[in-house]
Amino acid sequence: MAEQSRIAVMASGKGSNLAAILKRQAGGDAPFRVELVLTNRGDAGALAIARAAQVPKVCFLDPAAYDDREAYDAACAEVITEEGCDWVVLAGYMRILSAGFVRRFSGRVINIHPALLPAFPGAHGVEDALAHGVKVSGCTVHLVDEVLDNGPILAQAVVPVEDDDDAETLRARIQQQEHRLYPQVLTRLVSCGFDLDGRRVVWRGGTR
Ligand code: GRF
Repeated sequence: MAEQSRIAVMASGKGSNLAAILKRQAGGDAPFRVELVLTNRGDAGALAIARAAQVPKVCFLDPAAYDDREAYDAACAEVITEEGCDWVVLAGYMRILSAGFVRRFSGRVINIHPALLPAFPGAHGVEDALAHGVKVSGCTVHLVDEVLDNGPILAQAVVPVEDDDDAETLRARIQQQEHRLYPQVLTRLVSCGFDLDGRRVVWRGGTR
C-alpha cells in the first residue's frame, strides 16, 4: 500500500465524526491514518473513542494552562508538528483557531459544519437553519481559513427538514450524512487532492 497520510484530529465533543473516520481506517486500505487526537476538554467523548481505537497519541491540552489563544494554539501546533501530521481535521472542535495556527497549516486544515454554508455559520448552525424555516439543510466539509466557517467548500450533503423536526432530530439526520461524508472527503483529499480556482475546489481525477 502507498504511504498513508498522517492525520491529526481536533475534537471537543462526543466524537462521533472521529469514530466514523476511525471506522473507515479500520476497514483497511485507508490512505490515511489518525496519528493524533487532540482535545481542549478533559470530558470529551472523543478521548475514550481515540484510546479505544489505540490512536498512537491522545492528548488533552487544557486552555486554562495558557495565557491566551495564541499560546494555546502554538502548543497544539507543536504537538501536531511533533507527530508529523500532514492534515489537521477538525471534528466538533469548539474553539476558534488563531490566525497564526491557520497560517502555519495553511490549506491543510479542514472542518465539518452542520449546515449548508455559507448559510448558517457559527456555533448554532442547526438551530439557526430550523429557526429560519429552510426546507433543506445539511453539512459542509471545507478548508479552514482565518474567517470562521468561510474557507473553500470541499463537499456538501443535503438533508430534508421535516415539519415536525426539532434541533435534536434535525441534528441526528445531519450527523448521519456527516459520518458518511467526512471519511469519504478525507479519503479523496489525501489520495487525489484538488486545485483551487478562486474559491472553487476542483478535484483532481474527475468528479467522483
Ligand atoms: C458535528 O455536528 C459537526 O458538524 C460540528 O460539531 C459536531 C461534532 O459532533 N462541527 P461529534 O463530536 O463529531 O459527534
